[in-house]
Amino acid sequence: MKKVCSLYFSPCGNVEKVVRAMAEAASARLGVPAEHLDATLPEARRREYAFGPEQLVFVGAPVYAGRVPNKIAPFFREAVRGGGAAAVAVVCFGNRSFDNALAELFDILTAGGFAVPAAAAVPTEHSFTNALAPGRPTAAELAAASAFAVRAAERCAGAGPFPSLEPGRVPGDGSAPYYTPLGADGRPAMFLKAVPAVDRDRCLRCGTCAAVCPMGSVDRADPAKMNGVCIKCHACVQKCPAGARSFTDPAFLSHRAMLIDHYQRPAQAAYIE
Ligand SMILES: Cc1cc2nc3c(=O)[nH]c(=O)nc-3n(C[C@H](O)[C@H](O)[C@H](O)COP(=O)(O)O)c2cc1C
Repeated sequence: MKKVCSLYFSPCGNVEKVVRAMAEAASARLGVPAEHLDATLPEARRREYAFGPEQLVFVGAPVYAGRVPNKIAPFFREAVRGGGAAAVAVVCFGNRSFDNALAELFDILTAGGFAVPAAAAVPTEHSFTNALAPGRPTAAELAAASAFAVRAAERCAGAGPFPSLEPGRVPGDGSAPYYTPLGADGRPAMFLKAVPAVDRDRCLRCGTCAAVCPMGSVDRADPAKMNGVCIKCHACVQKCPAGARSFTDPAFLSHRAMLIDHYQRPAQAAYIE
């Protein structure tokens, strides 16, 4: 083993926190360097990421509607090449459920030429609200994630071929339908077209929102204008230094209220190894 990497899509930073901690712990255990590859911004997803048989990669994605985000799955499928490397599949979810996302990421990595010796689903604060899984992962949860990463690294010490999980071990079905968001009335909440509203009195025109949008959709000259798709990731809402951006779409707000109402119990992490 020559190198440990993290590779992740993480608009609001939770996935980044978890997979970087995992990669750092594994690299310290194996005594090899760690490299962190952030594929959140569009320009970082325009290149290929090719790995090889002397590498262990912690690949992380958030759960969106019970799956890997649908606009990002093609990147993992088409631009990430395993080449016999080992990959640990990691998804982070906001206290509702990871549904089929971990199975989907496992399938993508296996098809992409990785051995997948371990997989994890980690509850983290929900991008929509800090009323769901507030402050998670805690320091203790990050330590548990790091200990899991060390165990995965120990199983991969030396060069490939690496062990891989049997497909049936990872819960879920990677090609199952997406979760349908529900509103407070229990009926489907349709907010696909919602975009963040901008409070022009508060907006500092600093350009942060345009710089952090993983779809490159926020107009650089007029931050209230969207030039492309909005995936509701909340990076621009959370990172705006003036608190000038928010979702006001009634169907979205109704879904968020339903989540806060129904998903307060602390979800548990799943470590499959
Ligand atoms: C559009 C969207 C859909 C989401 N869908 C789910 C979901 O189905 N289940 C869940 O538990 N959390 C869901 N979440 C919460 C995220 O998975 C969670 O907050 C994650 O930590 C976000 O990762 P990030 O901080 O790296 O962006 C969703 C978040 C967003 C933005």
